[in-house]
Amino acid sequence: MIAYLAADSFLPELKAELKNIRSVHGNLVLTDGPLQSSVWAQHIWLNAKIESFESISQAAKILKSAGKLWSLYSFENHRRAELIQENLPKLRPRILEFLGPLPQDPLGSWTLLDKNTLLYSAETNLPFPNGEIEFHENKEIPPSRAYLKLWELLTVYGVRPEKGQRVVDFGSCPGGWTWVLQQMGCDVVSIDRAPLDTKIAALPRIEFIKTNAFSLKPQDIGVIDWFFSDIICYPEKLLELVRGWQESGLCKNFVCTIKFQGKTDFETLAEFQKLEGAKIQHLYHNKHEVTVWIKTSSP
Ligand SMILES: C[S@@+](CC[C@H](N)C(=O)[O-])C[C@H]1O[C@@H](n2cnc3c(N)ncnc32)[C@H](O)[C@@H]1O
Repeated sequence: MIAYLAADSFLPELKAELKNIRSVHGNLVLTDGPLQSSVWAQHIWLNAKIESFESISQAAKILKSAGKLWSLYSFENHRRAELIQENLPKLRPRILEFLGPLPQDPLGSWTLLDKNTLLYSAETNLPFPNGEIEFHENKEIPPSRAYLKLWELLTVYGVRPEKGQRVVDFGSCPGGWTWVLQQMGCDVVSIDRAPLDTKIAALPRIEFIKTNAFSLKPQDIGVIDWFFSDIICYPEKLLELVRGWQESGLCKNFVCTIKFQGKTDFETLAEFQKLEGAKIQHLYHNKHEVTVWIKTSSP
């Protein structure tokens, strides 16, 4: 069995995308059959097992014999679950550095289905408790917290623009993403209708163009290595922009956030999924949006 933990408040989206659902426990969806690709799962329990127990110490013993380190997903029976967790080896916070290594020791996940039943998996897709990816944040320079979703993508999913590459950042204001890309050594063409934060605008290797992103043609900017977009716009407008750049042949690598206003636009999401090589994930630092990336050239 495989269990998928929905990103916060996206259980309906997760249930809509998964097949062979066996049962749902809080935000955790238990399925039969092979691993399925998922946009909305924040954490995947790859080899889930169910086992009954009588006492707290017996539950802890079952978990300890299946793996070394465990994190708890608690949706009910909270106190009993905490007492079991206290009987397991202490889990230290796993706080990442930007572009730093991921923890190497595996982390299992478990929950209580009821007072006497464990659901657990010693293997998970990400070595972070419930897929929650925390960073040592930079509280001084970035003018907004939007940089965290880019940090997460670049650090955890191996998407890495290279030093010296030319990148465009659409919808860049106040400048969090532009700052991240500039710090990585990229030459950034930064585009927004609103101005950049002044301390970001003063950094070298940033060309800021104050305009409507949709009025620019790819030819106005020329060849770039990466297309980044965090523009607030309807998903179909973003799809049009990405397709235009793909057709121009001027860029092969794309990272963008698809932002949903009100309801999740499943139709346009499905169109993005059809783009060759597209990977789509609701990142831990995404809100009502998902991140798409397409990498078609090697560094
Ligand atoms: C979520 S903010 C971007 C945050 C940015 N990534 C950061 O890290 O600071 C979205 C931006 O999209 C910009 N935007 C919305 N529509 C636009 C358009 N048609 N052309 C250019 N920028 C646009 C807004 O001005 C806003 O600054």
